[in-house]
Amino acid sequence: MANKRVLIAPSLLAADPMNFGADLRSAEEAGADMHHVDVMDGHFVPNLTYGIPLVKALKKHCRIPLDVHIMVSNPDLVALDYVEAGADILVFHVEAAVHSHRLIQAIHGKGAKAGIAVNPGTSLLMVEPLLPYVDLVNIMSVNPGFGGQSFIPESVERISALRKMLEAICRVDDVFIQVDGGINSETVESVVNAGANLLVAGTFFYGAPDRKQAVRILRGES
Ligand code: DX5
Ligand code: ZN
Repeated sequence: MANKRVLIAPSLLAADPMNFGADLRSAEEAGADMHHVDVMDGHFVPNLTYGIPLVKALKKHCRIPLDVHIMVSNPDLVALDYVEAGADILVFHVEAAVHSHRLIQAIHGKGAKAGIAVNPGTSLLMVEPLLPYVDLVNIMSVNPGFGGQSFIPESVERISALRKMLEAICRVDDVFIQVDGGINSETVESVVNAGANLLVAGTFFYGAPDRKQAVRILRGES
């Protein structure tokens, strides 16, 4: 993957569940690069969202890739089901997986991109051994579970540190640095300057009066 420009992934969590079709279409028309789909199991995180049937349904109707972020306790057991359902990128939590390395290989074996997410309270050392293998690292900039939370400022340093780790193994052009949580017109500049190149935006994107303009703001074009 070439990471030349900042990519935008609106989070379905902030869309209207009674209106997913129209909301997803509006994200595509606004210039989004992929849809971010937050799967929560009510166990790894204190919230419950969607499962495999919804990912399958989305896949039939979406024209851009699905970036599926599974916040579940048992990713080793369920991740491949989400790939089969239509995830183009499958992102699991490093805190939850027992065999992260094996799971990355298995996701690749099914033809999808593999990503790892890391909570704000988890050391990046947990991620480091996996950097030669992954396609994406999701730096959580809020504690996972809910949309609309405030950005944790220390996330900026973590993005810089991750970028340095990727530079050290010559993978900075191959691995997306995704940032997830509290991204808006005020926080975007600091994360992009630190090296983030794939931005998840829920509340800011779906709450914007003009979603095309929201994408332009996130890309630093206006
Ligand atoms: C939080 C989710 C995020 C969430 C971001 O657990 O992983 O993807 O949708 O929402 P905002 O952009 O509203 O912080
Ligand atoms: Zn997410």
